[in-house]
Amino acid sequence: MTEKKDKTIHLVRGMKDILPADQPWWDFVRSRGRDLAKSYGYDRIDTPMLEQTNLFIRSVGKGTDIVEKEMFSFIDQGNENVTLRPEATAGIVRAYIEHGLVNQPKPVKLFWLGPLFRHDRPQAGRYRQFWQLDYEALGDDHPAVDAELIMIAYGLLKELGLSPTVQINSIGDEDDRERYKKALVEYFRPRRNQLSEEVKKRLQKNPLRVLDSKEEAVRILVQDAPQIVDYLSETANKHFVKVLEHLDELEIPYVLNPRLVRGLDYYNRTVFELWSQDDEGGQLAFGGGGRYDSLVEQLGGQPTPAAGFAIGFERLIMKMREANVPLPPAHTPNIFVAQLGEASRKKCLKLFEELRRAGVYAAHALSKDGIKQQMEAANRLKVKYTLIFGQKEMLDNTILLRDMDNGIQETIPFEKVVPEVKKRLERSALKENHSSTSPEV
Ligand code: HAM
Repeated sequence: MTEKKDKTIHLVRGMKDILPADQPWWDFVRSRGRDLAKSYGYDRIDTPMLEQTNLFIRSVGKGTDIVEKEMFSFIDQGNENVTLRPEATAGIVRAYIEHGLVNQPKPVKLFWLGPLFRHDRPQAGRYRQFWQLDYEALGDDHPAVDAELIMIAYGLLKELGLSPTVQINSIGDEDDRERYKKALVEYFRPRRNQLSEEVKKRLQKNPLRVLDSKEEAVRILVQDAPQIVDYLSETANKHFVKVLEHLDELEIPYVLNPRLVRGLDYYNRTVFELWSQDDEGGQLAFGGGGRYDSLVEQLGGQPTPAAGFAIGFERLIMKMREANVPLPPAHTPNIFVAQLGEASRKKCLKLFEELRRAGVYAAHALSKDGIKQQMEAANRLKVKYTLIFGQKEMLDNTILLRDMDNGIQETIPFEKVVPEVKKRLERSALKENHSSTSPEV
């Protein structure tokens, strides 16, 4: 490494800056996610980035890749073992128990968005800090809840201009899974010599994860392996059939995927993922989720059935950009304030502030002196009007209002400028169009 490189501070591997030019994509995803949450009755919840490490060990599961290899964990100054949250569901459930949300009418529907941390192998669309939108419904085991969640996930991706495929499976209840795991181990026993050491380990620790192994030899063997649907109890089977009936009624297409098991331990019954159509291997899942009926109890709460899903921002935005999905109109200024001379500049800064307070999105270039430069800036911003305040206007107590589309200039009294500009912008309905995107986080 060169000396120069050593001295340069740079981005930590796997991290990502979201630059101003990227923000419209992020705003679009956030605002659609929030709008959908509101329209389905999901209330926003935020949880801290740092949680006790045990929370994830007890929820996501000891033998999972996330807990075994991917957590950013450390002992803090108070000697507490803490972890930067690798997923949101566990923290949401902890908050649900800790704040007694259990007493609210069921299902308690919660919406969450924020960054997460996993020491994953960085690749296209995969980072070590990444963002998710999460929707969780707690307190209701009805199959309609599962179907509604899939409807939201599918609808969100469609609204963002993508064509996902819904992959769905049921992994039954604990007893079903225990019987199935035994059958799976039995099936692979005579075929062990065809398995890599990694897969052999998986088979021993977490046999279900063999099903979504990416190794070609294993994928071939898995095709003839027993399928979990044949091991479901009658209740779990009925539940799954009802979920599918709801999806049929909603006309949401889905693929029954007997190999879909998810990488977190808290799931039971319905599990689903949303895949990009050109990536049937699921490497590029936009999101996933399912039922987790035992998690609340496992973390110390009352028995509470629950289900939810999460969509990741980065892969989503990558695919939206590839597909040239049109963004909503940007929130750009409607008017430019141009000044000529020092005294004019002072008045113009005040005028700019008055326009802003009146709800008019204005721009200026107060450090520039020449009118030419300022008009160029106004043109670049594609404003509807420019206000020009020169020596003559100052003496007359007026201001010039230039229509940038046709170049027509009108002189208007200075004290009337704010209401006049407002009236004109409202009339041309520009302001209304431009305020439709919400810049909040
Ligand atoms: P997950 O499948 O681990 O589920 O993550 C959901 C989505 O987050 C993935 O499909 C992917 O789009 C995105 N994602 C995961 N890891 C990364 C990464 N390193 N870089 C970029 N994107 C990533 C969960 O997290 C569950 N908590 C979902 C859930 C909610 N289940 C029930 N409720």
